[in-house]
Amino acid sequence: MPDAKPIYVLNGPNLNLLGTREPEIYGRVTLAEIEVACAERAAQLGRGIVFRQSNIEGELVTWLQEAGDKAGAVVLNAGAYTHTSVALHDAIKAIAVPVIETHLSNPTAREDFRHVSLVGKAAKGVIAGFGATSYLLAIEAAALLANES
Ligand code: DQA
Repeated sequence: MPDAKPIYVLNGPNLNLLGTREPEIYGRVTLAEIEVACAERAAQLGRGIVFRQSNIEGELVTWLQEAGDKAGAVVLNAGAYTHTSVALHDAIKAIAVPVIETHLSNPTAREDFRHVSLVGKAAKGVIAGFGATSYLLAIEAAALLANES
């Protein structure tokens, strides 16, 4: 599949701190290590990736809009914006490519304020609770969905 569109892997606030941030919840794997693992898994599935992180909500909106044109599917860990961002919800609704909500932790098993997901109300599906492996499962789902479209 030489012309296969890449999988966009978009990361929200504080995920740049993975490795040292609350390791008892998020583990000790860094975002850079997750990027390498995602690229390897995607390559096995015949896809490239575009991997980005931002602490700025609007930047994530802009990248989702870009993904609407350029991506085969999107893996989105929106971090805390998952629970608050109408703008991210609307950006997902505005694009035709499937978006997979992804989390290292299982927000449903945590504080009440994490039980609402505005991203999840617009996303195709959710993968959460498997640590860094959540990203690899999401890449597999993304590749399957991209192949269907
Ligand atoms: C997270 C879960 C969110 O509730 C939290 O705000 C994060 C990380 C996760 O990957 O488990 O920043 O998205």
